[in-house]
Amino acid sequence: MATQLPRLLPLLLFLPFFHIAASTSPSGLHPVVLLPDTTCSQLEARLTDAYVPPSPQCAAHHKDHDGRWLRLWKNTTELDDPAVAPCVADQLRLVFDHVAGDYRNVPGVETRVLDFGSTRGFLADEPANRNRCMGRLVEALEEVGYRDGETLFGAPYDFRQSPAALGQPCRAFSRYRQRLRALVEHASRTNGDKPVVLVSHSEGGYFALEFLNRSPLPWRRRHIKHFVMASTGAGGFVKFMEVVASCVSDVSPLARVRRSVPSKFTPLPSPKVFDRDAPLVVTRDKNYTAHDMPAFLAAAGLPEFEVTLYETRELPMAMNFRAPVVPTTCINGIGVPTAEKLVYWDGNFGEDPETVYGDGDGLVNSASILALDTVIGDDPMQQYYKSIKIAGMYHAGVISDGVALERLISEILRDSFVQDSKKVDYRRVAQL
Ligand SMILES: *[C@@H]1O[C@H](CO)[C@@H](O)[C@H](O)[C@H]1NC(C)=O
Ligand SMILES: *[C@@H]1O[C@H](CO)[C@@H](O)[C@H](O)[C@H]1NC(C)=O
Repeated sequence: MATQLPRLLPLLLFLPFFHIAASTSPSGLHPVVLLPDTTCSQLEARLTDAYVPPSPQCAAHHKDHDGRWLRLWKNTTELDDPAVAPCVADQLRLVFDHVAGDYRNVPGVETRVLDFGSTRGFLADEPANRNRCMGRLVEALEEVGYRDGETLFGAPYDFRQSPAALGQPCRAFSRYRQRLRALVEHASRTNGDKPVVLVSHSEGGYFALEFLNRSPLPWRRRHIKHFVMASTGAGGFVKFMEVVASCVSDVSPLARVRRSVPSKFTPLPSPKVFDRDAPLVVTRDKNYTAHDMPAFLAAAGLPEFEVTLYETRELPMAMNFRAPVVPTTCINGIGVPTAEKLVYWDGNFGEDPETVYGDGDGLVNSASILALDTVIGDDPMQQYYKSIKIAGMYHAGVISDGVALERLISEILRDSFVQDSKKVDYRRVAQL
């Protein structure tokens, strides 16, 4: 109790009504479902006889594994062992099945997310990932009365298997949508039919938004009280071009995994948001804007079929980033130096670029954050939209820093969705 008090104090001081709301009517809470950032979900794997280990060492490592579900992501003991890391990476990578037109695990590897439905499986126990993986947010929700499995639920996802554009085969995301729909319905049903508050951070926002936009509108209106999207921009971010370029040249086991998965395309800067005349990558011979992404990916070393996959599976979805038509609050940091332009003067994408900084949350550019106001806020179908931009707040701080967390919790607990002038006020706040 004594050790908890300092952590509780800011909440109690600034927002005493939390305490009252929690202690007088815990059952009055609307259920909350959380979607964390990429790699915060954990995966388990099971090997079948069809699995061919990449080396005799890996075969020896895996020999007593078969038939049992074991932690694939994240097992730090294994990943930190240079002899074992390539074996783990071989099971984590995906392959593109040209016949099915879809990504899948390598033959003989079955995977599932750990603890679907709960927040306990999020990778928040690692000190380095506690803030980023909603550890502090879950604690703050528990402090106001939420209980895991009763009023608070986690929707971890296979972060390798990002959604694909409508019409493209994507079994992983289809299954995830079904499970999330069932979870939302369960959360609502077991809480007096109250609609659910869906809260996402960063990459989780893409999964949440695609889930909402592909659910029938009456279902959304019936089951979703409020969508709170933290730290996701409407058009990706520039720094991710560096991530993609480096995973092509990097030969480390995890870089090879990153290279094999479709989620390597998800937060690439989108031509919906970034200007045709704003070079994001600069070389001596050629500049690349968000509109030149296929040329950039090819120049970075991706084979032609993968560039085509970007164009068919990712780009149409990025262009279709749109309002979820349920009450929505976007919370983003702003005013933190953020990579805006990457200079690879000699055109060597394997080297670290020289970075030109602009405004954003340290990761997501302000162009992408501000575009939420037009893409979602100005959609005539979108009845309630609020944007909260917190000056000086970084990407993960939005869900972990004291001040931002208070703000986020008060939005999660919000009961009234009367659209007032607040959207404008917050834009002014952001400009200060
Ligand atoms: C991580 O890997 C080690 C070595 O293979 C294994 O002993 C341990 O049980 C694994 N941890 C989890 C949580 O699966
Ligand atoms: C690339 O963009 C920079 C400005 O960022 C400009 O000075 C340069 O001339 C451009 N280079 C080419 C090859 O278009």
